[in-house]
Amino acid sequence: MKKIKIKTRIWVMMAGAVILMSIILNSCVESQKVAAKGGAQLWAENCQRCHNTPSPTSFSHEQWTTIGMHMQTRAQLTDKERDKIIAFLSQ
Ligand code: HEC
Repeated sequence: MKKIKIKTRIWVMMAGAVILMSIILNSCVESQKVAAKGGAQLWAENCQRCHNTPSPTSFSHEQWTTIGMHMQTRAQLTDKERDKIIAFLSQ
């Protein structure tokens, strides 16, 4: 078997590192996109999976806060996502 030149090996390793870095950086961009989602979008995506969602005017801010805490566990939302949805519903 012919030995691979050391220079070639370094190039292959470099290329591998670049590919790996771009994958890692891309996954960060993806989670930033998720974090950038607004309350309206989170509400639309999460709150009609199980039932029709009552309109934002159906409840007061205090009621939405309580409902938000109950539905957070059901919809498996983070605190941030829940707060955004409550803010959107309490407008
Ligand atoms: C996994 C299913 C599920 C998801 C997701 C879910 N809900 Fe619910 N929701 C329920 C069930 C079951 C009930 C009825 C029982 C109860 O009130 O706990 C309910 C009841 C409600 C009610 C009625 C409360 C009342 O007193 O009339 C509101 C309002 C509500 N959900 C809002 C939301 C909002 C806003 C979201 C998104 C953050 C959400 N739900 C996500 C299952 C879900």
